[in-house]
Amino acid sequence: MTVKLERRNGIAVVTIDNPPVNALGRAVREKLWALAGELDEDPSVRAVVLTGAGKLFVGGADITEFDRPVEPPGLPELIARIEAAAKPWVGAIRGVALGGGLEITLGCCFRIATADARFALPETTLGIIPGAGGTQRLPRLIGIDHAIGVVAENLTLDAAHAVELGLVDRLVDEPLVDAAEAFVLEALERPLPEPVSRRPVAAVDPARLQEAEARIRRAARGAAAPPLALAALRFGLEHGFASGMANERAVFLKLRASPEAAALRYLFFAERAALRPADMRGITPFAIGRVGVVGGGTMGVGIAAALRNANLPVVLVERDETSLARGMAALAAVFQAARKKGGLSEAEAERRIGAVTGAVGYAALAECDLVIEAVFEDLSVKRAVFAELGRICRRDAVLATNTSYIDPRLIAAGLPEPGRFIGLHFFSPAQVMKLLEIVPTPATRPEVLATAFDLARRLAKIPVRSGICDGFIGNRILRRYRTEAEVLLRDGVSAAAIDAAMRGFGFAMGPFEMQDMAGLDISFLYREAARSRGETVPETPGDLLVRAGRKGQKTGGGWYDYAPGDRTPQPSAEAARILAPMQAPPQTLAPEAIVERLLAAMAAEGQAILAEGIAAIPTDIDLVEVHGYGFPRRRGGPMFQASRAANRTQDGN
Ligand code: 3HC
Ligand code: NAI
Repeated sequence: MTVKLERRNGIAVVTIDNPPVNALGRAVREKLWALAGELDEDPSVRAVVLTGAGKLFVGGADITEFDRPVEPPGLPELIARIEAAAKPWVGAIRGVALGGGLEITLGCCFRIATADARFALPETTLGIIPGAGGTQRLPRLIGIDHAIGVVAENLTLDAAHAVELGLVDRLVDEPLVDAAEAFVLEALERPLPEPVSRRPVAAVDPARLQEAEARIRRAARGAAAPPLALAALRFGLEHGFASGMANERAVFLKLRASPEAAALRYLFFAERAALRPADMRGITPFAIGRVGVVGGGTMGVGIAAALRNANLPVVLVERDETSLARGMAALAAVFQAARKKGGLSEAEAERRIGAVTGAVGYAALAECDLVIEAVFEDLSVKRAVFAELGRICRRDAVLATNTSYIDPRLIAAGLPEPGRFIGLHFFSPAQVMKLLEIVPTPATRPEVLATAFDLARRLAKIPVRSGICDGFIGNRILRRYRTEAEVLLRDGVSAAAIDAAMRGFGFAMGPFEMQDMAGLDISFLYREAARSRGETVPETPGDLLVRAGRKGQKTGGGWYDYAPGDRTPQPSAEAARILAPMQAPPQTLAPEAIVERLLAAMAAEGQAILAEGIAAIPTDIDLVEVHGYGFPRRRGGPMFQASRAANRTQDGN
C-alpha cells in the first residue's frame, strides 16, 4: 500500500506510506491522482489532509526513476491537480519535506507542521533544479530573497523559520492528524486563501539578484544546476507563472539527463550503500561511549573535534604538558572558529571543549571504549604507544591507528588481542573531511570492523574499507596522479598549464599548487628514507626543488613563488631554472588532453587496487577520491569517468 485513505468527520486523511522515505514514485503519483478526482466527487468530504507515514513527510521525487523517461502522471500535473481541487488540501508535515515533498505542499491550500519539520529543495545537489514548481511557487509564498537560498543554495528551513516566512500556517503538536483535523475545521469557517500560483510576487531588486547570481556561480565552482535554478526562478518572475512552470520543467528534464546529474545520483546511492556494507549485516558493533585520542597534533586535534561534534566524550593524551597545552588550545580554537563562523553558540562551543579531558600518560585511557592513536608517523613510536595501550586499556576496548602509510600489521604486532586492532585513517582537517578509510588487518574481529562503520555513521563520515598496501587506496592513487603530472612536466608541459587544466575540470587546486600548499618535503623524505634503505628511487623534479630549499608555500616557494602573506601562486623563474635539466623543450597540450592523461592514470591505479582486492568495488575508489582528495563531486570520481569513457568508446564502435 503506497497511499492510505481514512475518513474522519468529513475530512479525508491521505497518508503517503512508501518506505523508506515516502518518495513520490509512479505508484504514489497514480494513487494521489486518482484520489484527487475521487475526493472531489465525494460529497461527504469537506477537506483533505495530506501527510506522510512514519518519521518524515516526503523525501522527494523517486530518484531511482531518474534514469528512465518520466512516467505519467508527472509531479507538476499532480500538484496542479491538488491546487485546483474542489476541496482544500492541507499539508500536515512532520520530519523532512524535501524536493518534490516540499513542492507538493506548495500545491496545498495550507501547511501545518510539527516542531521537528524541515523544508528544503536539495535538487541542485543532484545536478538538477526543482522540477515541480519549487522555483515558481516558493517565491510567491515566502518572497524572493528567502526563496533564492532554498532554491539555489540548498538552504534548509526549520519549522520555526518556516512559520516566520509564511511557508507554514501553524506549528502544531502530535498527534499530527488530530491537530490537522482541528486546524481544518477552523479554517473552513473562513474564506480560503488564493492558490499559491495565483499570488502576486514582489518586484525584484536587480542589484540583489545580480549579487545572488555572482555568489551562486562562485560557490557552484562550475556545477551547472545552482545558477540554472536561480535563472529558472528569475524567468518565472519576469514571464509569469505558466511560462515559468514550462521553463522550469524543460530545464529540469534536460539536467536530469545530463552527465553531471548522473554522476551526482551515482554518488548519492554510493554514499548510502557505503554506510551499510552487505557483509556487516547482522554483526552487532560494540557500544562506544568514551573515546581516547593519543597525540594532540594536527590529526589528533581534528579527530577529537570530530568526536566532540558527534557528542562523544574524549580523553586527549599527549607526551608532555607543553604538547598537551598546545593540543588543548588548538582544539578550543577549532570550536571558537566554528562559533565565529556562526555555526555554534558560545555555550555550545564551551560545552564541546568542556567534555575533553586532557592527560599526560596513558592511565586516563583505562575506561575508554575506543582509543585512536595519532602520534608521529614512526613505527617504533607507534609500537611503544600500543604496548602501553595493550597494558592499560580494557581488554574489550577497540584500538585504532591513524597511520597514513605504515603497515598496520607491524603496528599491531605484539598486542595481546590483535583482533581488536584496526586502522582508522582520517583526513585533514579531520573535523571537516568526510572520508574515513577503514583498514582491518587479517586478525581484526568482524565486530571491531562493524564498530568502525558504526563510528563513521555517528561522525557523519563516509567509510570506505581498504586492504593493506602502501598508502591504502587514497594516497596510493594520489602518488600515481602526482607521478603522472610530473611525467607531463618532464615532457615540457608547464606546471601552470597542468594546474589550470585540473582546476578547469573542477578541482579546487591542481597537483602542483596542492603540493606547494601541503609541502614538498613530506614525500621527499619518504623517498629519501627508501633510498637510505638501499631501494632504487629515481630522482624526481620535486627532489630538485626540495634540495634547493623550495619546500612549498612555507618556504616562500616550491613549484611556484609566493609573496609574503599571499597564497597566490606566481610563475617562478628560479623553479624553471632548477627544473630545466629534467624538462623537455616546452610544449602545449590542450587542457582536455591533460585531464584525460591524469584521469587515466588515476583510473589505472584504481583498477590495480581492485585487481589486488585492496578495494572491493569501483564506487569505493570514487568515494575516496571525492571525499578525501577533492575530486569534483559533479564528475563522480575517476572510476565513474573511466566507465563513461569506455561506454562512449563502445557507442562509437
Ligand atoms: N528517492 C529514492 N530513494 C531515496 C530517496 C529518494 N528521493 N531518498 C532516500 N532514498 C533511499 C536511500 O537511497 C536509502 O536507500 P537504501 O536503504 O537502499 O540505502 C533509503 O532511502 C534511506 O535513505 P537514507 O539512508 O538517506 O535515510 P535517512 O533517514 O538518513 O535520510 C532523507 C532520509 C533525509 C530523506 C535522505 O534520504 C535524503 O536526503 N534523500 C534525498 C532528498 C532529495 O534529494 N530529494 C530531492 C529529490 S529530487 C526531486 O524531488 C525532484 C523534484 O523537484 C521533481
Ligand atoms: P603531528 O606531528 O602534527 O602530531 C603528532 C603528535 O603526537 C604531536 O603533538 C606529538 O607531541 C604527539 N606524540 C608523539 N609521541 C607521543 C606519545 N608517545 N604519546 C602521546 N603523544 C605523542 O602529526 P599529525 O600530522 O597529526 O600525524 C599524526 C598521524 O596521523 C601520523 O601517523 C600521520 O601519518 C597520520 N596522518 C596525518 C595526516 C595529515 O594530513 N597530517 C592525514 C592522515 C593521517
